[in-house]
Amino acid sequence: MIELKSARDKEKMRRAGLIVAEVLQVLKKAVKPGMMTKELDHIADYEIRSRGAVPVFKGYHGYPASVCVSVNHEVVHGIPGPRRLKEHDLVSVDLGAVIDSFVGDAALSLFVGEPPDERAALLLKVTEESLYAGIQAAQSGGHLGDISHTVQQYVERHGFSVVRDYVGHGIGHQMHEDPQVPNYGLPGRGILLKPGLALAIEPMVNAGDYEVDVLDDGWTVVTRDGSLSAHFEHTIFITETGPEILTRID
Ligand code: MF3
Ligand code: CO
Repeated sequence: MIELKSARDKEKMRRAGLIVAEVLQVLKKAVKPGMMTKELDHIADYEIRSRGAVPVFKGYHGYPASVCVSVNHEVVHGIPGPRRLKEHDLVSVDLGAVIDSFVGDAALSLFVGEPPDERAALLLKVTEESLYAGIQAAQSGGHLGDISHTVQQYVERHGFSVVRDYVGHGIGHQMHEDPQVPNYGLPGRGILLKPGLALAIEPMVNAGDYEVDVLDDGWTVVTRDGSLSAHFEHTIFITETGPEILTRID
């Protein structure tokens, strides 16, 4: 069942989204060579709660932390721990917060210091741009497949691949609501996009092939071929006049 949200709901979701956006910026600034990924979790937990919100990932199907930190060939759902970041690592940080019973969810990728090479730098850039292309395709009167197709086309045009096994999602009172939002598909297919639809669009892009595996910790998703992977996500809200990004500071 797909629930459409009111204008009032949108403003509540914006509050959650803004907190997620702010905390992601704090984390981005905190990333330093030599730091442990669990330090990012402590910061995230503290920064979310100090804004009056609650981390949504913690305890979600038993997930043990407030943030996901996925490094290099890790795609998503990396569990923060004693691992130390080093110069040139590609780090993806994913965060969710709930306030006033609405959820915000967003992710970004960055390098620790300089990128290791030009192709890695391009992977990150293309992944972020594919998210914004997908958001632009989220127009009332269009179809869900327009978003999926736009992301896929953008990514594959640059020689990278989109992960199939994990997808974006509807969002609202719950972090994961209907519909699923794949990063691959055909234009004109899927549900009709309407004002009041809130979506988390989240391209997960591999430098190599799209296949992934889950590590023995039961969470960490890695590329099967060991290639680098990047991840960007925004929570958006479809209005009559276009998509609004709720997890952006501006
Ligand atoms: N943002 C991710 C998602 O939308 C991460 C959630 S995984 C969790 O699926 F278990 F940590 F919550
Ligand atoms: Co998400």
